Amino acid sequence: MNIQENISLKNHNTFGIEAKAKAFVEINGLAQLQKVLELKAYPNKFILSGGSNILLAKDVDALVMHINLKGISVVEENEDEVVLKVMAGENWHDLVLWTLEKGYGGLENLSLIPGNVGTAPIQNIGAYGVELKDVFESCAAMEIAAGELIAFDNDACKFGYRDSIFKNEAKGKYIITSVSLKLTKKNHTLNTGYGAIEDELKKNEIVYPTIRDISNAVIAIRQSKLPDPKEIGNSGSFFKNPIISKKTYQKLKKEKPDLPSYKVDEDHYKIPAGWLIEQCGFKGKRFGDAGVHEKQALVLVNHGNASGEELLKLAEQIQNTVSQRFKIQISPEVNVIK
Ligand code: EPU
Repeated sequence: MNIQENISLKNHNTFGIEAKAKAFVEINGLAQLQKVLELKAYPNKFILSGGSNILLAKDVDALVMHINLKGISVVEENEDEVVLKVMAGENWHDLVLWTLEKGYGGLENLSLIPGNVGTAPIQNIGAYGVELKDVFESCAAMEIAAGELIAFDNDACKFGYRDSIFKNEAKGKYIITSVSLKLTKKNHTLNTGYGAIEDELKKNEIVYPTIRDISNAVIAIRQSKLPDPKEIGNSGSFFKNPIISKKTYQKLKKEKPDLPSYKVDEDHYKIPAGWLIEQCGFKGKRFGDAGVHEKQALVLVNHGNASGEELLKLAEQIQNTVSQRFKIQISPEVNVIK
């Protein structure tokens, strides 16, 4: 296997931040993964997938394992449904396009999300009314300590909003190697309720949308307000939308009648962090090369040569300002390495 020392990770994180890895190895197979985990020469190991949900605020003093496991296969199928097993290193959006080609429904609302399949369960990726957990059957993960594969079904993953067991009690203990998804072959459940999708379909005079139409609508919406990491470094939403109590919500709503919100349950409301950040005057602002996207304040951007520390400083400044102004704590959605 080819282990390289002192490698730049600039092309391995969508923020495009210059940070170094002590060592770097590409993982192309499960047997190789087991061997790498046994390597005594590098006691510290670090898992890197698509690099689309990470802020590298310092160099990585570890052996970085770049998960490049590939393959999509049908493992179960009947007239109505299909179960796919997808290896962790497959690109998420390429998978979505592949399923649309085959006419399989379920992933269309999750079009154009950056990153790879293996990291999708960690934060239960979600957009436009659908979350990964809605189509997730199970995943296989290698236990780092034992080098053995373990299966996690939907319940075992303890999915929540941008959350799973892999961000909590299982954090740092497993490497997800494949994900199994259950998709529909006909009678697809279409999720068009999200306002922006409805508007986009109406604009294109589509009354009876297909899964492809929904995917195209989502792609158009995302492209209109989210920056393309190939053009400007970013990691999608940098913060999670905070969930606040009904009491806090009602107080704020009185002050700010235009406050947007999603009702979570009888006692809780989710507030778009992008709105809070915009209210604090950060939208489109730039501090050196670290900035806040001009069309969606939830997204931090690297205008060229921002360091991870500069972006982290900006994130902390935003958190403090939102906290002082609204008494609401917002926390990062991305994995911050500091
Ligand atoms: N808003 C503002 N200013 C902004 C941004 C948003 O006022 O700069 C307000 C607007 O009122 C807007 C509302 O926030 O109507 C909601 O905005 P948007 O539809 O863009 O959704 P979001 O809540 O900001 C979440 C996800 C996105 C996902 C969209 C659509 C999180 C942290 N983010 O954003 O996910 O695409 O909903 O479902 O939950 C990602 O995770 O990387 C991501 C892009």
